[in-house]
Amino acid sequence: MNRAILSQKINGELIDRLKNDPEAFSSFIQNQNDGIIIYVLEKLGRLENGYSKEPLLNLLNHVNENVRALSIKNLAKLGDINLLSTFSKYANTDESTFVRREAVSAIGRLRNEKAIPVLIDLLKDKDPKVVMQAIRGLLVFSYKENVISALKKLLNHPSELIREVINKEINGVQYQSKSQQKHDEFPEFLRNMDWEQKFLNKIVCGDSLLLLQEIPDKSIHLVITSPPYLQQRDYDGLGIGNENKVEEYIDNLLKIFNECVRITKDDGSIVFNLGDKYENGSLLMVPYKFAIEAIKTNPIKLVNIITWVKLNPTPRQFKKRLVNSTEPFFHFVKSDTYYYDIDSFMNYKKSLRSKNNVGNKIGKSYFELIEKSSLSEKEKQQAKKELLEVIQEVKSGKIESFRMKIRGMHSEPFGGQEGGRKIQLEKKGFTIIKILGNGLKKDVIECPVETIKGTKHPAIYPEYIIQELIKLLTRRDDIVLDPFVGSGTTAVAAKKLNRNYIGIDINPSYCKYAESRLKDISKENNLFELFI
Ligand SMILES: C[S@@+](CC[C@H](N)C(=O)[O-])C[C@H]1O[C@@H](n2cnc3c(N)ncnc32)[C@H](O)[C@@H]1O
Repeated sequence: MNRAILSQKINGELIDRLKNDPEAFSSFIQNQNDGIIIYVLEKLGRLENGYSKEPLLNLLNHVNENVRALSIKNLAKLGDINLLSTFSKYANTDESTFVRREAVSAIGRLRNEKAIPVLIDLLKDKDPKVVMQAIRGLLVFSYKENVISALKKLLNHPSELIREVINKEINGVQYQSKSQQKHDEFPEFLRNMDWEQKFLNKIVCGDSLLLLQEIPDKSIHLVITSPPYLQQRDYDGLGIGNENKVEEYIDNLLKIFNECVRITKDDGSIVFNLGDKYENGSLLMVPYKFAIEAIKTNPIKLVNIITWVKLNPTPRQFKKRLVNSTEPFFHFVKSDTYYYDIDSFMNYKKSLRSKNNVGNKIGKSYFELIEKSSLSEKEKQQAKKELLEVIQEVKSGKIESFRMKIRGMHSEPFGGQEGGRKIQLEKKGFTIIKILGNGLKKDVIECPVETIKGTKHPAIYPEYIIQELIKLLTRRDDIVLDPFVGSGTTAVAAKKLNRNYIGIDINPSYCKYAESRLKDISKENNLFELFI
């Protein structure tokens, strides 16, 4: 029985079985690594009073603070007042602030007057995060005299945030926590606490859906990521992508996407890169279904679908289908005032052109043709002036090249822009056709699929594309977040470009690998290969 459970894929069915069989749960946990235990604890869902507490109580001594905290979180769902002393013990003595905070939250969730003295005692804690959780638990009883007088004492608390919260409460400004918000939803005032300390320039291991809730609204400049593809990769069976149906996958992805929208600044951007999947010989259109739902359910705009053209797609030629060699990057924004530095995007092309390809002879033959032409002196002067200007545009890299047509020397052009080239030729005596070429910033990026020697991560996206998008959509010192950071590519690109990064992944071994990649970076080392 246990063997069978141990070899099973971790999915909803298995978690339901573990939930209903405490013995199986206990032996399953004994044989798993921390990542799997954390995953199962995160997915336990609703637990009723009467559920066997033993397996969770045993985990309270686990060495991993996340395991201890999640065990407390699950025990708290039971609403059992008999757990008050256990919660109180961990709230007061655990070495990890994270666990202590979860234990205070669990005491608050009991919503029982017996917990009031314990919570009041915790208001004296040195850690403002613990105090905040105690305040939250006590606010439920703000109709009680002793609670209000204990809270009032915090008006002189050293933490400004605590003073502010108490001030507002006492002056009648209601927090959601007091009214509609359920205790297991994340209260806004707790979000603001030290989130940077936990996340900024860190790889944080856990489920993005839960972790993103700790980040305040409108605090991130760019969310850029590549979620797991539907059923296409195996990340040890953890997290998103293991769903059986495309609808279920998109629903799960949207929950995380909605959080990404919430935490993005009004002038920020969100970029999601997704891959498609065949079912019975037909593409499911997963990326596009996701994008349509994302726009439908959020107040956002889709600015571009940037196509990544893979220069080295999987070399498997099918008889009746072409090789898929593209993937979309969806660029979403929250407002029309989004930050956009088009000059920095692929700007190396400009410098290459201006340095290498433009000699001094450019346009020389046109000067000779103008002189030889039958244009009036005034027309010749104007033609030479505009010719000099357009040569300058080529030299500076603004345009790739140009062609000039001179009345009487060249054949007539067919219509065209700028009031019609034919008319220009008639009235001015010449027309200049600018060729923007690579100077045009297009919604296509050509780049090979990357592999990193020695890594076990199966789906690394190209650092080059991410660097270009980071330059396009953020300033120096902005915050770039990837909720599915995998091998750490986004964080690596952000660090090299002097941006702050936040990387989240559910798989502990990928988190470790990402951290090791980040350690090896020197900030100056921001060169990348060019694919032009
Ligand atoms: C396509 S990979 C990302 C690869 C990454 N762009 C890179 O270059 O290495 C997707 C990642 O999402 C992680 N993941 C899946 N579900 C998750 C969740 N709910 N929260 C956080 N990470 C998750 C997987 O472990 C996997 O590493």
